[in-house]
Amino acid sequence: DKGDYEHFMLKEIHDQPSSIEDTFRGRISMDHSKIFLGGILDVLPSLINARRIIILACGTSWHAGLVSEYLFEEYARVPVEVEYASEFRYRKPILYPDDVVIAISQSGETADTLAAIRMVREQSEATILGICNVAGSSISRETDAGVYTHAGIEIGVASTKAFTAQITVLTMMAFLLGHRKKKISDSDYVKLVNALTEIPGKMREILNHEGFIKDVANKYTNVTNSLYLGRGVLYPVALEGALKLKEISYIHAEGYPAAEMKHGPIALIDENMPVFVLAVKDDSYEKITSNIQEVKARNGKVVAIVTEGEKTLRNMADDVIEIPACHKSLSPLLAVVPLQIISYQIAVMRGCNVDQPRNLAKSVTVE
Ligand code: F6R
Repeated sequence: DKGDYEHFMLKEIHDQPSSIEDTFRGRISMDHSKIFLGGILDVLPSLINARRIIILACGTSWHAGLVSEYLFEEYARVPVEVEYASEFRYRKPILYPDDVVIAISQSGETADTLAAIRMVREQSEATILGICNVAGSSISRETDAGVYTHAGIEIGVASTKAFTAQITVLTMMAFLLGHRKKKISDSDYVKLVNALTEIPGKMREILNHEGFIKDVANKYTNVTNSLYLGRGVLYPVALEGALKLKEISYIHAEGYPAAEMKHGPIALIDENMPVFVLAVKDDSYEKITSNIQEVKARNGKVVAIVTEGEKTLRNMADDVIEIPACHKSLSPLLAVVPLQIISYQIAVMRGCNVDQPRNLAKSVTVE
């Protein structure tokens, strides 16, 4: 049921603060000093001793995997490879018994992801975990253990709340693992968990400014091309923003790590090219500011997603959308929301079928 919303996608964008809370439920202690992930309790020793984590997924779920690569490396100090399931399964990958493979899938039925974990099972002793949204789905049944995202049923073909729920689960896993491996002190652990629990409230603040974000989107409904840039943990969010726009509005969009722009894509920039830049205050803020200057020097239009209260970029970018300040590792959960709203709004303005875009299926059960 869409309730008062015009489309499922819009409802699902608005569901996110509560679907993240549902994904926390029963998994975080009241004092924020503990994370319990019952589904992976039995395999925790394998995770703690993992030589490597290999993440297998497709599409938006692959983007969630990319975000988690930064978190697992930084907090749990474990090497991570994030692979398109469709490529991995046709390679001759090297698998070790002490690898942990994590398959991420909203539907739990994606043919390539399922085939990839079957291949891992046949060829190795590696532990296989699943992060699925649909309980009892094929992938959830064929993994050794896993953690469900509790995003609720997702109907819009363009994934929104499943993505943020996947990042939520992966973040909890990375923090839990880091703490168990003693890479995170007790006090830092509480701070990180605390910062994570603040995300739904901050997301609500963004959703309260939806009208403003729509006004920005309305300026860009007639473009034919667009670029999305981000650095670090926000690079996968740039990929996700571009995918959302392509899928539902049929506008050509590309996501790039901002520093790669000068290695090619910068040639595309002219006054007709909007560039959506994820420029929150974090370790890469100075660098991203100079990337914005490079775009402006070529007359590109810059829409910057910035941290509340930021002043410098206000004079540089054509449009500025503020999001609340948050822990630097958690910004993907907030920064993706304005990008989802922009894609939704542009698609609606163009008269596209938002919930059922052409050529796409909710669950890709063909190879
Ligand atoms: C994008 C989208 C797809 C899916 C992909 C994987 O909005 O919905 O890219 O993310 O088909 O699907 P799951 O997560 O069900 O394996």
